[in-house]
Amino acid sequence: METELLRLSYSLDTIDTAVRSFWKTAGRYRVFAFSGDMGAGKTTFIHHLCDHLKVHDVVSSPTFALINEYHFAGTGGTDNMIFHMDWYRLRNSEEAFNAGMEDCVDQARTGNAFCLIEWPEKAKELLHAPYLWVSINVTSPTERDMSLTLIS
Ligand SMILES: Nc1ncnc2c1ncn2[C@@H]1O[C@H](COP(=O)(O)OP(=O)(O)O)[C@@H](O)[C@H]1O
Ligand SMILES: [Mg+2]
Repeated sequence: METELLRLSYSLDTIDTAVRSFWKTAGRYRVFAFSGDMGAGKTTFIHHLCDHLKVHDVVSSPTFALINEYHFAGTGGTDNMIFHMDWYRLRNSEEAFNAGMEDCVDQARTGNAFCLIEWPEKAKELLHAPYLWVSINVTSPTERDMSLTLIS
């Protein structure tokens, strides 16, 4: 089932307000699929999502490493993890599986981790409900539309 949870428009000036709405709406889910063209703003938004959680690490595009791992302190000082993945260079689900992507998705579903995935279309078979489909669209050089849909 698909349920739209949030729809918003933002610029780089208002992105942190968008991030707050995002976490408020989506914070109890663990797996996020970011869909959007090259340059739509997937990495940029993920960077701000991570800043909001005060991750200790440098957030950058995982295009070459495929998986970036970040850490942040949860309530009570627990160590929480974020896996930031880019599936752009994968050709199919088998390659994603071999690259360890499924382990990350499984860890996110069962533990203290979030999975933030760019180009999820490349290996959709690895995603299992519930997860959130985040669609980013360019509406002007500075504005983006975002919709958040719960797949359950
Ligand atoms: N509202 C906006 N949100 C995100 N990026 C924006 C916005 N307006 C302009 N940009 C620019 O668009 C580009 C988005 O790049 P990036 O986040 O790497 O895209 P993607 O990861 O989707 O390929 C950046 O150069 C960024 O500065
Ligand atoms: Mg990117």
